[in-house]
Amino acid sequence: MNQTDNTSQAHPTTLAVIGLGYIGLPTAAMFASTGVDVTGVDINPKAVAAVNAGTAHIEEGELDELVGRCVKAGMLRATTTPVQADAFIIAVPTPVGHDQERTPDVTHVRAAGEAIAPHLKKGDLVILESTSPVGTTGMLAELFANARPDLSFPQQKGEEADVCIAYCPERIIPGRMLQELVENDRIIGGMTARCSERAARLYGAFVRGTCHLSDDRTAEMVKLTENAFRDVNIAFANELSMICSDLSLDAWKVIELANRHPRVNILNPGPGVGGHCIAVDPWFIVASAPERSRLIRATREINDGKTQFVIDQVEQAMKRWPEAQVACLGLTYKPDVDDFRESPAFSIAESLTSKYGDRILSSDPYADALDDSMRQRAGLNLVAADEAFAKAGIVVLLVGHTAFRAFPRPEGKHLVDTVGYWR
Ligand SMILES: NC(=O)c1ccc[n+]([C@@H]2O[C@H](COP(=O)([O-])OP(=O)(O)OC[C@H]3O[C@@H](n4cnc5c(N)ncnc54)[C@H](O)[C@@H]3O)[C@@H](O)[C@H]2O)c1
Repeated sequence: MNQTDNTSQAHPTTLAVIGLGYIGLPTAAMFASTGVDVTGVDINPKAVAAVNAGTAHIEEGELDELVGRCVKAGMLRATTTPVQADAFIIAVPTPVGHDQERTPDVTHVRAAGEAIAPHLKKGDLVILESTSPVGTTGMLAELFANARPDLSFPQQKGEEADVCIAYCPERIIPGRMLQELVENDRIIGGMTARCSERAARLYGAFVRGTCHLSDDRTAEMVKLTENAFRDVNIAFANELSMICSDLSLDAWKVIELANRHPRVNILNPGPGVGGHCIAVDPWFIVASAPERSRLIRATREINDGKTQFVIDQVEQAMKRWPEAQVACLGLTYKPDVDDFRESPAFSIAESLTSKYGDRILSSDPYADALDDSMRQRAGLNLVAADEAFAKAGIVVLLVGHTAFRAFPRPEGKHLVDTVGYWR
């Protein structure tokens, strides 16, 4: 694999970042902070207004301050419609459908491509960062070719193309995004070698990790592979936890002792897998190769099945103690973040509430960040943690938030500790 020295070369002067969410906004601000003239583009007028007011509309460490500084310096601004630029980065959502096959939905990537196509000019570079099924970068290149017959693209003219196109996935983690943007290695998947080199040169504005040069399809698969790998490993721990429960064994003890083996490293079980990446991206692989993806599909089913397993455990306890109230502690998709997307904890609390109403109390230190539509849909009986601990006879620990450490292990109550918090 090729690598590149990403510190020495000049970068384009103007950049348009399409999609100003968790990935696009930190990326736009980081480029702007290094002297690139950046226009952020988002269809959400609230995100655009927030950026133009010098603030970040998402919660992420120092991001708010960085956006403020860049906007004040005149290096970052936002608009709802694309502008001309030397380089374009697309960071729009790539969800899966709610159908049984969880079909990948690349309509936002298409829409972003259609929006920037009229603004492309000879010499431009387009980078797709959205996590995407294999072939999406090629689909984007075809879309451009159809929209702009006056320009040539890599699939038509190879290294001689007027416009360079690359797929460069993002692997930063919420809570450490600004550090990881700089420090992480990147995979640079150009449609040609020149596309890769130009993309690596662009990221050289701030990336101190190594840029590994590859091709677009390989880079698309690398990103999906990373998240499928995590999913498979978590599924192993979750399946083990269910087997141990059936056999009346302590799964955490089994895992702790098995991990004393020098080549074994089993992850922690939990109530399922959440977030917008690990629980979603493996389906992109399944969709591309349904017959071959037996383990990856089973993994998704096991991790989703663990959520139902926890609900069943709680319902069994509720039958045994019919007078007891239930405290669902933690609703986010992982500890110490304010993100509820695809959260198994949230769906457990929601499902129990829909069946048992006010008998279910829910508590999360980040509940203020819940958006109104989610709050209304779920109808949760949200209470402070101390009230939940005091009132409930059945305590269900769903997310190991640090804030719950303020409370001792509840005594004299039935515990369903899905993450081994009180071991
Ligand atoms: N958030 C993460 O931790 C993370 C990590 C790695 C990869 N990714 C991937 O990055 C991509 C973006 O994720 P995100 O978390 O930033 O999503 P997000 O929902 O936070 O932000 C996406 C933004 O794109 C905007 N948008 C949608 N369609 C648009 C269009 N046609 N034109 C302009 N703007 C448009 C939305 O309004 C939104 O503000 C996804 O493919 C995701 O899988 C996310």
